[in-house]
Amino acid sequence: MKIFGFDTLPSTNTYAVENFDSYENQDIIMAQTQTAGKGRKGRRWSSETGGLYFTIILKPSEIKPEQASSLTQIMAISVCKTIRGLGVSAYLKWPNDVLYKGKKFCGILSEAVTKNNILKGIIIGVGINIEQKNIVSEKPFTSLADIGIKISKSVLLEEIFSNFQTLQKQNFIDEFKKLCPAINTEIIVDGKKGFFEDIDNAGRMILKTEKGREVIMAGDVQF
Ligand code: BTN
Repeated sequence: MKIFGFDTLPSTNTYAVENFDSYENQDIIMAQTQTAGKGRKGRRWSSETGGLYFTIILKPSEIKPEQASSLTQIMAISVCKTIRGLGVSAYLKWPNDVLYKGKKFCGILSEAVTKNNILKGIIIGVGINIEQKNIVSEKPFTSLADIGIKISKSVLLEEIFSNFQTLQKQNFIDEFKKLCPAINTEIIVDGKKGFFEDIDNAGRMILKTEKGREVIMAGDVQF
């Protein structure tokens, strides 16, 4: 793994996609700030100085499309475990947010990289609020500083990467379930009410509704 650091980029994800061929498997693109940080569902990811913004480039041999969501969830577990290792009871919000006491401090956005319709790899972008104040967002956000964690970006990144390596060799679904308190509770996902019954082997949510069981790939959960 090599880290390529930039002062500012529009988005580490956009940069990683556009320069995919110039980098090797597991290289990391990191920026101190982003001018056009991207979030899920076309949202903006606020990226002032003080946060950790990085994208890991993954070029596994014989990559399958379904690996994208699994690797994204493995990254979420890696961040969550890293923070828990610092004595803070962070948890996961399906499919791949990391929260503390109802407030999000880490978001993950992965993108598939294709060439002539062939999947070449996956990039996983991670944004962690560390020292930012007054994060502007319609949703509750927090930062590691607010939670009482003081950690350097390089130590944080190294620990996340090391967990990411280890977790890829394990049954990540069991790990995910342990860290996801919404399982076995009534939830609302994208406006739909149901019982969050399980997470299947591909990381999808099994939601029991009045109409029966539904398998959900991604969505915004309220609980
Ligand atoms: C989310 O909406 O929760 C996902 C946020 C992902 C933000 C990170 S910051 C580094 C990388 N570059 C981007 O433009 N987005 C991701």
